[in-house]
Amino acid sequence: MSHNNDSAAQARARVGAEAANAVTDGMVVGLGTGRTAEAFLAALTARVAAGLTITGIPTSQRTADLATRAGIPLTDLDRHPAPDLTIDGADEIDERLRLIKGGGGALLREKIVASASTEMLVIVDRGKVVDDLGAFPLPIEIVPFGAAATIRHIEAALTGCGLDGTLTLRRAGDGPFVTDSGHHILDASLGRIPDPESLAAALAPIPGVVEHGLFLNIATRALVADADGVTTLGPSS
Ligand code: A5P
Repeated sequence: MSHNNDSAAQARARVGAEAANAVTDGMVVGLGTGRTAEAFLAALTARVAAGLTITGIPTSQRTADLATRAGIPLTDLDRHPAPDLTIDGADEIDERLRLIKGGGGALLREKIVASASTEMLVIVDRGKVVDDLGAFPLPIEIVPFGAAATIRHIEAALTGCGLDGTLTLRRAGDGPFVTDSGHHILDASLGRIPDPESLAAALAPIPGVVEHGLFLNIATRALVADADGVTTLGPSS
């Protein structure tokens, strides 16, 4: 493992441990997806083993499997429709706590769980904090049926927002990547998204678009791992 990978893994471990300390007894906690969320899960597992009583709501089948193996009790939104806190990573975050998520393909369940939660704590390393969202390709989850027609609508929406970019169907092995809910993902390489709210509003009504990776007005706080510690982004920073 290279030095960079080592320090990235250490940053994830640091911010994951700090996030686990934000969980208190009795909470219903949304459990995110991705490497940083898994570092949090590892720290949470240690706290549960030491006696912390919580219930988790996983945002992906992968996280559900990991949490089950770790002995974290799980529930779902049908039984607990308003979790206390969701803790999850992000692919990009700006100073206003707007996010791009979905690099790992779990954006739909991540957005449903985080939006249902009283708070969403985002955990990232400093490299993911950006002035403007969009250098990371925006994942757009679509229904496989009629994809070519949906893509035409998406292209028109991008043009209407003054954005120029390419849409790439995400692949896994020999075929398209398939999400936990049976959909496909288009990654929109846009470079820069100056007005994420307008883009979100333009994508939402398109038939065939299930969800997109812009998380706006959902995150309430973020912990950012720097080389030498963890800082907070958000209302208390
Ligand atoms: C999963 O769908 C994503 O939203 C992840 O939360 C995001 O991609 C961050 O993942 P890493 O922590 O692995 O960078």
